Amino acid sequence: MKILYVCTELYPLLKTGGLADVGAALPAALQSAGSEVRLLLPAFAGIAKGVRVEGLPLLLSPEGGPEILRTLQPAPRLLRGQVEATSQEVYLLDAPALYQREGGPYLDAQGREWTDNAMRFALLCWAAAGLGLGEDRQWRPDVVHAHDWHTGLIPVYLQLRAQDRVTPACVFTIHNLAYQGVFPASVLPALGLPESLFTMDGIEFYGQLSFMKAGLQFADAITTVSPRYAREIMTHEQGCGLDGVLRFRAEHVSGILNGVDYSVWDPSADPLIDAHFDVGTMGGKRLVKQALQRAMGLEVRADAMLCVAVTRLSEQKGLHLVPAVLDALVAQGGQLLVLGSGDAEIEESIREAVSRFPGQAVLRVGYDEPLAHRIMAAADVVLVPSRFEPCGLTQLYGLRYGALPLVHAVGGLADTVTDCTAETLADHSASGFTFHEFSATDLDSALQRAFALYRRPADWASVQQHAMQLRFDWLVAAQAYTALFQRLAPQAGTASA
Ligand code: ADP
Ligand code: GLC
Repeated sequence: MKILYVCTELYPLLKTGGLADVGAALPAALQSAGSEVRLLLPAFAGIAKGVRVEGLPLLLSPEGGPEILRTLQPAPRLLRGQVEATSQEVYLLDAPALYQREGGPYLDAQGREWTDNAMRFALLCWAAAGLGLGEDRQWRPDVVHAHDWHTGLIPVYLQLRAQDRVTPACVFTIHNLAYQGVFPASVLPALGLPESLFTMDGIEFYGQLSFMKAGLQFADAITTVSPRYAREIMTHEQGCGLDGVLRFRAEHVSGILNGVDYSVWDPSADPLIDAHFDVGTMGGKRLVKQALQRAMGLEVRADAMLCVAVTRLSEQKGLHLVPAVLDALVAQGGQLLVLGSGDAEIEESIREAVSRFPGQAVLRVGYDEPLAHRIMAAADVVLVPSRFEPCGLTQLYGLRYGALPLVHAVGGLADTVTDCTAETLADHSASGFTFHEFSATDLDSALQRAFALYRRPADWASVQQHAMQLRFDWLVAAQAYTALFQRLAPQAGTASA
């Protein structure tokens, strides 16, 4: 089975969140499960740097497509190559005027959306549809696997361009329904989209064009990154205005839980941490904690329950609940370390809160991959109080590093963390702490339960051991995706040739 995997981030070359981790790990796991996978990404500077280009570029067929194909100089083209570090086969959509810019993949250096995002990502979708329909004569995918709103127009272009050609199946995976790619209707002609699609059961969303809705309406199947989130997004509360569409397509919606790349997140071999440890050899964790406390300006105290968060500072992540519980956290002898970047207001409120507890609470602003590893390794508790969470990866990293997750029981957090209760402690299934109502009061009471367990070192160690032994294997996820792909493209078979 041949899979074209289309996304916009790839760890470690370009990452703003979990999408990049998935883009690196899932294609490799799909290959282990017997498929042949090629990636398609925009040639953002960070990505292009890590790719060895081979062979001749492919030109995109302009007919009927985004206007920019006829006006942009040099003309957009597809480069073929391999990711240097992994030898993963990849196509890069090369259009320097669109993708090689100072700033992020979606936002400029000031944090504003690029004004031509509709065009930038429509072109990616057009290129994907072309490959899906056989524009690379050497390689034709059976399935196009599209990720998040940036790829939402792929099934639309596939349908518009198919005529009597063989069409691949299209699977659309939602990593976060809150980001939808909504643009004024006036961009339709420039994207080559006919007015006839601009209806309620097409790509129209409250008078505008929605890439996300397009993906949901036209893909053959929709997946999201945890079973619980798949159910939640069909409700009014969590549907971000698209719950009706999702309910309408319910029989094509499923949740497949993300995994962890345990070759990157492994406390017994992680090159980014000062000392190694694992179940049965936990001494290294104490050393890492001590070193991190010192480096971050926290009081060096082995007995302090070190609570951490490694996160985007966005409304989604719920970090704005933390200042209200900080007094109690410090009063119980705990410490707080937050590594995050994003929303200036949330940043400011955390900065203000931690400034009241020098030596006990620290905010580190920024995006720092090596520090993220050191923090997970040192932590006793990883806080993930998200308002909603499609899957969440940091709680999974925490589990492997013996940092017990304390999470709001939603989405992937609820699917992956088992609350410590009398029953789960007795049957050894407990792995962390959950709270149900999204409020500082509930977060605080979960924290108090964490402190109570922390004061019983033998019980804490037993939960920690269990947490570290849990595995969220990418191969399991890859097998579930493969089964879905086979149902949609039964003629493709499983051989990787
Ligand atoms: P999301 O994709 O919604 O941000 P996930 O939990 O799925 O949430 O993935 C977040 C990823 O980004 C994890 O790999 C996490 O370690 C990383 N990350 C988030 N913020 C930072 C940061 N400030 N520094 C380093 N890594 C970060
Ligand atoms: C999104 C979600 C996060 C998920 C990640 C990878 O960024 O917010 O919950 O883990 O995608 O699927």
